Amino acid sequence: MKYNRILLKLSGESLMGEKAFGIDNNRLASYAEQIRELVDRDVQVAIVIGGGNIFRGVQAEEGGMDRTHGDYMGMLATMINSMALQAALESKGVQTRLQSAIEMKEIAEPYVRRRAVRHLEKGRVVIFGAGTGNPYFTTDSAASLRAIEIEAQVILKGTRVDGVYTADPEKDPTATKYDNISFDDVYANGLKVMDMTAFTLCKENDLPIIVFDMDTPGNLKKVLNGDQVGTIVRN
Ligand code: GTP
Repeated sequence: MKYNRILLKLSGESLMGEKAFGIDNNRLASYAEQIRELVDRDVQVAIVIGGGNIFRGVQAEEGGMDRTHGDYMGMLATMINSMALQAALESKGVQTRLQSAIEMKEIAEPYVRRRAVRHLEKGRVVIFGAGTGNPYFTTDSAASLRAIEIEAQVILKGTRVDGVYTADPEKDPTATKYDNISFDDVYANGLKVMDMTAFTLCKENDLPIIVFDMDTPGNLKKVLNGDQVGTIVRN
């Protein structure tokens, strides 16, 4: 396979599947199956998953709640998704370890970088929950930070769209997809791949991002095979 250590960023919203809220078990099982295929081929997989299917920090602000308070609630939402994914992976025989950026030792290990790396070396999938543990940082930022820390070769950002387009393909029918684009061109063209904090972390640490459609089964394996799927963003 093209990469041997990856960080997979999954969206919380995608976990809803056809549902309006929460977790769609079919979608969860499909993700777990796709991840299992990589582990079977000796790819070291770390995962960060969002929490938007359960709670979003910005939602709290709209309701008059403190942003920081809402962000912490969002971090707990990512733990729920992380635990669901952990269970789904284990039901398929994949060994996992869940590490949380906020200490909750009854349900997860605390985040310890060297231990996470050790787990990966032993073939365990490591799920990083609770974002970075700090408000004002998204799960994309958590994914970028953890990917750099564990020296992943690439971030695979699984989304609903199948790559980076010249414009929003859901709004502009003439939008076309990039196969490759540089960080600088993403910025110069005002395109959105991740929020700027996450994006800058990747750029400055020379960590490529592959944006692809995770909801089409088989795509994840294709990315690892080096097939042209999605868009690769790099320096
Ligand atoms: P090795 O040291 O490589 O054998 O890794 P290991 O993860 O198997 O060792 P350890 O004995 O630390 O962990 C055994 C189990 O306990 C694993 O499922 C861990 O995820 C879990 N575990 C370890 N530390 C904690 C913790 O602080 N909280 C929780 N909830 N579980 C933990």
